[in-house]
Amino acid sequence: MEKYYLTTAIDYANAPPHIGHAYEKIAADIVARYQRLAGREVFFLTGTDEHGTKVEKTAELAGKNPKEFVDEMAEKFQEAWKRLLISNDFFIRTTEPRHEKVVQEVFRRMREKGDVYKGTYKGLYCEGCEDYKRERDLDPDGNCPNHKKPPKVMEEDNYFFRLTKYKEKLRQWLCQEGVVRPDGRRKEVINQLDDEDFGDFSVSRPRTSLQWGIGVPDDPEHVIYVWIDALTNYITGIGFETDEVLWKKFWPADLHLIGKDIVKFHCIYWPAMLMACDIELPKMVFGHGFITVEGQKMSKSLGNVLDPIELVDKYGADAIRYYLFAANSFDQDGDFSRADFISTANSHLANNLGNLLNRTLTLVDKNCAGKVPDAIPDAEAMKVAENGQRSYVEFMEQLEFTKAIEAALSLLNEGNRYLNDQKPWTLFKEGKKAEGEAVLLTSLELVKRATVLLCPVTPGLSAKIWHQLGFDEPIEKVVLTDSVVSKVIPAGQLLRNQGPVFLRIEDVTAVPAV
Ligand code: MSP
Repeated sequence: MEKYYLTTAIDYANAPPHIGHAYEKIAADIVARYQRLAGREVFFLTGTDEHGTKVEKTAELAGKNPKEFVDEMAEKFQEAWKRLLISNDFFIRTTEPRHEKVVQEVFRRMREKGDVYKGTYKGLYCEGCEDYKRERDLDPDGNCPNHKKPPKVMEEDNYFFRLTKYKEKLRQWLCQEGVVRPDGRRKEVINQLDDEDFGDFSVSRPRTSLQWGIGVPDDPEHVIYVWIDALTNYITGIGFETDEVLWKKFWPADLHLIGKDIVKFHCIYWPAMLMACDIELPKMVFGHGFITVEGQKMSKSLGNVLDPIELVDKYGADAIRYYLFAANSFDQDGDFSRADFISTANSHLANNLGNLLNRTLTLVDKNCAGKVPDAIPDAEAMKVAENGQRSYVEFMEQLEFTKAIEAALSLLNEGNRYLNDQKPWTLFKEGKKAEGEAVLLTSLELVKRATVLLCPVTPGLSAKIWHQLGFDEPIEKVVLTDSVVSKVIPAGQLLRNQGPVFLRIEDVTAVPAV
């Protein structure tokens, strides 16, 4: 069995999850579920980034000690992912003792290699980004462009990582098409690396500036820089130094899925750290776009930060998952618009999918005693299904979710068109039973296949339909090459018509904001 290891960015545990965090975790979940459907053995890792100045300060403001604070936040993230049907195999927290040991081991290895040295950092630091800044990284007002705040002026003793030593090797790695996607981001990183100014970077903070972090081995006065700590989660989570079997099986990562704002850390710092530790590099880093809400960037001051749990409570996980990826291209920025969400969910899930299933099951109940008819499906319609499935696989392999969803929908469009053209209700009325049965079987078959293809996107809904189609084996266990997919749904299988699977959203009230 081929393996597939994928990770998401680990979210800062300084605030509860919002729709932007959810967007990334759902995307990763679609990949994980698709890879399982394609027959691969998957390990899917996500988690929380719990150390650093930002978390330390927020905890203090909340009047809590940092550990107590991050424990609460980590709970919230896990709860949100459960509610959104995220199927991660492990949830990593950077305060886990196992992780702390691995981070220290990574630091030790880099130091033993001669790649870490002591120096003084004199310059700017943005606590929002947890990143060192140069004057020219700031906007015309002297603010960090991401956080709209002036960075802190600092002068402190730090350990530095000898990035300059790895620049050429990094460049060679980055010159391979496909290691960083979309390709435009790969080119941006190469430009960044080529900048003469881009050199060694700090990998520690003195305890006098930051308490909440992992100690530098053999130097209690210093704390390891939060990005070194955070990036290392990708190897801790898969058993580096702790589970030889898991580690050997799954490393290197097939995919690090991250947002476009943290590409530098993942495509320069992380591979350089791995090179210094003599660890193989990941196969691909994908930097996705950002989600806005009603066309605006989310911010506390605008009061438009969307809470994924409230959305799930109101609309269910499937509709949200579906909308985010049917309506937005993953490699570009996208938007969550309430009106668009409601009309997309209603037209695709209630009308296209739900109605086709409902009409077909009702006709089978009435004319075939609720059992799958013994017939041969229409060859043309089956060709449409096969072509749709082929395109779906090609698009999913490329992380082109919007197009993959369209390919799955093409089966449903065909089903609705076919049913309307063939009018099985008339065929039965005219006594053309065999023809009527063949039409219903064709329709059932198209619904079945579309349900399987949509399962990575709408796992809850697909499981419900699967049950109504009379299958007992969980849909999550199905692999595309199984006969349950490629062969016609068995004649005589008892269907379970339990009414509409997706209720139209009639809601007119505002989407709740945090
Ligand atoms: N803790 C770091 C990542 C460390 S990974 C070793 C971090 N955390 S974050 O909470 O700020 O962001 C987590 C992920 O969510 C990032 O990939 C980020 O790009 C993504 N997003 C944050 N806001 C987003 C949107 N509005 N839209 C889509 N993704 C967004 O960075």
